[in-house]
Amino acid sequence: MTIEKEEYRQRRSNVMAKIGHGTAIFRSAPMVVMHNDVEYVFRQDSDFFYLTGFNEPEAVAVLAPHHDEHKFILFVQPKDSEKETWTGYRVGVEAAKDLFEADAVYSITELKEKLPQYLADADRIYYHLGRDQIFNDTIIDMWRKFMAAYPKRGTGPVALEDTNHIIHPLRLVKSDSEIQMMRKAASISAIAHNRAREFARPGRYEYEVQAEIEHTFRLNGAMGPAYPSIVASGANSCILHYVENDRQIQEKDLLLIDAGCSYNYYNGDITRTFPVDSKFTSEQKAIYDIVLEAQLKAIDEVKKGNSCNKSHEVAVKIIVEGLVDLGLLVGNIEEIIQEEKYKPFYMHKTGHWLGLDVHDAGVYKSDKDTWYILETGNVVTVEPGIYISPNLKPAEGQPEIPERWRGIGIRIEDDILVTGDGNEILSAAVPKSL
Ligand code: GLY
Ligand code: MN
Ligand code: MN
Repeated sequence: MTIEKEEYRQRRSNVMAKIGHGTAIFRSAPMVVMHNDVEYVFRQDSDFFYLTGFNEPEAVAVLAPHHDEHKFILFVQPKDSEKETWTGYRVGVEAAKDLFEADAVYSITELKEKLPQYLADADRIYYHLGRDQIFNDTIIDMWRKFMAAYPKRGTGPVALEDTNHIIHPLRLVKSDSEIQMMRKAASISAIAHNRAREFARPGRYEYEVQAEIEHTFRLNGAMGPAYPSIVASGANSCILHYVENDRQIQEKDLLLIDAGCSYNYYNGDITRTFPVDSKFTSEQKAIYDIVLEAQLKAIDEVKKGNSCNKSHEVAVKIIVEGLVDLGLLVGNIEEIIQEEKYKPFYMHKTGHWLGLDVHDAGVYKSDKDTWYILETGNVVTVEPGIYISPNLKPAEGQPEIPERWRGIGIRIEDDILVTGDGNEILSAAVPKSL
């Protein structure tokens, strides 16, 4: 399953249409040290990958729509048989031209010499200041030199502008081939969740369940986990980003699993919470009922034309009503919401964009009061939860939480594609009904 060259060409041309007389520069992701001279497996920068499909470090992509000859330029690592023996095959300058349809390809070692020609007549430089400070400084220094020469040249980039607002709106709307990738990522993630649920039982360690999940990811062709898998039993389920996964599962525990795979860089992100010995306690069931209802109603709001915040509003309301019914919150529903007195139980938002990044690129608001309106092709998670931590401190004026409720943490998360007439739950293959 691949994305065709034609689609990458279209993406670049969409960006070029937006930057007019500017030049956009995209940097590959850095290699990251794990320890001493050992590096983590390389993971390409998502913007860079979106525009090129090129999966090597030490690369730069340039889009210069105003340039007479070269509109798409790549800088890549040169072939080097000795280095390739150690760290793997490189595409190299010659092959990159055809493979990635660049108008010009240079060795990354020539960047300082060759890049300025593509900036000289641009009216601005589009560049996202990234984590590579040395590269940031290289770009800023080039810009500074053009600014200094501007009075005599009368041309050159007069502004440095971020690329996020150019490229991220494009990434927010998934193409048919991206949707295929996301379906695949969700379906492998779902197979892993179903296997984990069969496997989990009192006496197993959380990491054993994690191993089943991640084994299933790789076995089905995924690159691996999209993010550190969360396998949280008992009160660990109240820790949102619990990743130690080293506790032995006990009878009557709930097990919260938040895990998804990365497939060709597209991500799944699924959470299920279930009783490890197949039976909910009455308190667990009461909380599960609320979270499930909140999730189902929130998913109904994921549709074209709705504000992207609507599902959160709906989920919060159902969660607050539910907690008031149980006596865990007291007072007027609207006031509890207004004053955020539910937040000790539900402290995160109900979803996020999903795609090449797990928390995918794209804004949620276009100004202080205006939420993004959902469009066909958006993919979003819906993941309400209730967490009654052993340490939960009720908001002011709210009751103390009786011991029998403490340690219950429940989240249910699905991946939802906005379609022309509603939505498609990409992760529907994992059961969640009581
Ligand atoms: N697993 C990360 C998230 O759900 O946002
Ligand atoms: Mn998740
Ligand atoms: Mn999520």
